Amino acid sequence: MNGKPRILVTRRTFDEVLSDLRRDFEVEDRQHEARPLDAALLKSRLADKDGVMLAPGEVLDASMLAAAPRLKVVAVAAVGYNTVDVAACTARGVLVTHTPDVLNNTTADMAWALMLAAARRITEAERWLRAGQWQGINFGEMWGVDVHHATLGILGLGRIGRAIARRAAGFDMEVIYHSRRRVDAEIEAETRASHVGFDELLARSDFLMLILPYTPQSHHLIGAAALARMKASAILVNVARGGIVDDAALIDALRNRRIAGAGLDVYEGEPALHRGFLELDNVVLSPHLGSATAATRLAMARLAARNLRAALTGGVPPTPVNRVG
Ligand code: DGY
Repeated sequence: MNGKPRILVTRRTFDEVLSDLRRDFEVEDRQHEARPLDAALLKSRLADKDGVMLAPGEVLDASMLAAAPRLKVVAVAAVGYNTVDVAACTARGVLVTHTPDVLNNTTADMAWALMLAAARRITEAERWLRAGQWQGINFGEMWGVDVHHATLGILGLGRIGRAIARRAAGFDMEVIYHSRRRVDAEIEAETRASHVGFDELLARSDFLMLILPYTPQSHHLIGAAALARMKASAILVNVARGGIVDDAALIDALRNRRIAGAGLDVYEGEPALHRGFLELDNVVLSPHLGSATAATRLAMARLAARNLRAALTGGVPPTPVNRVG
C-alpha cells in the first residue's frame, strides 16, 4: 500500500485515462469485468476509497455513502446524475461532478437517428427484409412519414435540445419547444425554435423529442393523458431518461395507434425492458446509446477524470454538480 488517495473506477474505461489517474492515485479498476458491480459490492468497494468514477446510470445512495467514510468525490461519467443521491452527498460534504457539453452533438445525432428510423420504419423494414419477405418494390408497402417540413417539438431546450434543434434547419422543419423557463431570445433565434405551452407542444408536434432531466416533477410527464393529446400521426422520441415516459401507457398508445410510433433509447427501470415493446413493430429500440461513440466516451472519461483529480488534489473541478465545504 502507498500513501496515494484511493479511487474506484466502477466500469471498464480507456487505458489512457486509467494510466493517467495512476500517476496520482491508487486505482482499483474493472477493466476485465464485463458485469456491472451490484449495489452490495459497490458499497463494500467504496469503504476505503477517497473517490469514485461512476458509469452512466449507476446508483449511489445514502446507505452507500454512510459506508464510505473517506469518500470526497463522486465523478459521474455522464451528464445525467439522477441515480446519485446528490442531497445526501452534499450533506456529507462529498462533491458530485458530471460531464456536460462533451456529448451534446453525439446525443443529438442519436435523437435524429431514432427519429429518422421511426419515421421511415427502418428497423421494421430490415426485420422484414431479413425474413425474406421482400418481393421487390411495391408502391403500397412500408410507407413512412416525411421528416422534412414537419413540426419538431422539443421538450427541454437545454444544451442537447439546442443541438437537436439546430439540425432541423437542414430538414426545413418548424421547431417548437417547451421548457419550464423560456430560453434567451438569442438562443431562440439561433435554433429557430418558438416557445409554446406544454399542451400546444403535445398537440402540434409531428415529432416530439424528450430531452429534459429526470426529476420528481418530470416523472411520468408523458403518460396516458399527454399521449392522448398528441396527434395520431405523431412519433415520440426519448433520449433523456426512463421514467419521464410511463412505459405501460406508451405501449398501450402504440398498440392502439393512438400515436403512430416511437424511437426509444431509455426505459423505466433499465436495463430491464417492458416486454410489451418487443411485440410492437412501430417502435425503434436502442439500449441507451445516446453518447456511445468512441470519441465522445473518451471525452466523457477524460472530463470525469479531470474532475476527480481536481477534487482530490486541491484543484478546481471543471464541472461540479453541487457545492461542498
Ligand atoms: C448521460 O450522459 O447522461 C447519458 O445518458 C449517458 O449515455
